[in-house]
Amino acid sequence: MTYRASIIGCGRIASLFEDQLAVQKPCTHAGAYSLIPEIDIIAACDIRQDRLNKCSNRWGIKKLYLDYTEMLKKENLDILSICTHAPEHHEICLVAAESGVRVIFCEKPMATSLKEAEEMIEVCRKNNVILAVDHTRRWDDRFIKVKKIIESAAIGQVDLLDCYTTVGLLNGGTHLFDLMRFYCGEVESVTGYIKRDKSTDPGGIGLVRFKNGENAFVDSSWRDYVLFGINIYGMKGMIKSFGMIRSNKDIVKMVPKDSIREPGTKELRGEKIITKGSKSPLYNAIKNLIGCLENGKKPSCTGEDGMAALEIALAFHESENQSHKEILLPLKNRELKVIPRETSFTKDGKIYEK
Ligand SMILES: NC(=O)c1ccc[n+]([C@@H]2O[C@H](COP(=O)([O-])OP(=O)(O)OC[C@H]3O[C@@H](n4cnc5c(N)ncnc54)[C@H](O)[C@@H]3O)[C@@H](O)[C@H]2O)c1
Repeated sequence: MTYRASIIGCGRIASLFEDQLAVQKPCTHAGAYSLIPEIDIIAACDIRQDRLNKCSNRWGIKKLYLDYTEMLKKENLDILSICTHAPEHHEICLVAAESGVRVIFCEKPMATSLKEAEEMIEVCRKNNVILAVDHTRRWDDRFIKVKKIIESAAIGQVDLLDCYTTVGLLNGGTHLFDLMRFYCGEVESVTGYIKRDKSTDPGGIGLVRFKNGENAFVDSSWRDYVLFGINIYGMKGMIKSFGMIRSNKDIVKMVPKDSIREPGTKELRGEKIITKGSKSPLYNAIKNLIGCLENGKKPSCTGEDGMAALEIALAFHESENQSHKEILLPLKNRELKVIPRETSFTKDGKIYEK
């Protein structure tokens, strides 16, 4: 069986990163589709002809469109990647879900408000479309292994996370919030302080409380370097994960051993968490989506997961707007809208072409 795929928005995560980043490949939607024999990328769409040409030359895509509505009318697609920026996701998703597409793989952040996200989920539900959101770490074997370690109780009952990202509450933050939910489940409340920077999508600091009683300190302040990490503290040990946003290699499980320096006490010693022979997260994601098409399962990161990550980010803003009050979820203000940063690489969050 061959599935017909297409991509809307032929920029960095769709295609260009494949030749720009020194990370495990494939690291783009086109790169992942092209390595999977069951997938044929039959068309691509961008409002920019230069981006379309580049994408077509790189991946041998034959049918190119400047208007996604025309593409969705003409092509009979099974899988569609939405790789534009968040302000376009809602409208494209609504049109795509009514067009006969069977799977929509939408980039994060899923939308700019919860109202938009809810409409995207609803239109997909009505049309029997599988909606997945690319919080990529859900398909990364290293983070899956961390979750298994937590569940095995190897570090005891988890009671605290401390979490870092540097590139906006919606841009990098939604990746972080999704991973926090992956580990600890549903969030009860958010108390936050916004740290304004020059972008539309500032960072923040605050406390996230989970329904299971666990707590997380969050710092997503802009810095002159990129950071992404979660340290997980349990009664019997901890897991340190700390590093760059797309190459978070150093994940270490720390367990107490008898101290040589202070007999009678215990200190933490680490062992690196290694996953051998893993495929890249985006490759795993596309395989997961094919599995969903074939056996009706839910994707590892659903539309609801995408919305929940967005909700935590927006709750930081709501807390700031309400004088740092603890905001209980679900967030009442479904129309609160924030435009995410376009990139992690510049202070104002905008992409400048080289
Ligand atoms: N999952 C990840 O790790 C990851 C990494 C990078 C970016 N992203 C997300 O991917 C999205 C895109 O980011 P990017 O860095 O690839 O951006 P980009 O600017 O490189 O690419 C976006 C492309 O969409 C095109 N576009 C805009 N409006 C369009 C429309 N109506 N129809 C067709 N094409 C249109 C633009 O011309 C551009 O080529 C963002 O939401 C971003 O947050 C995710």
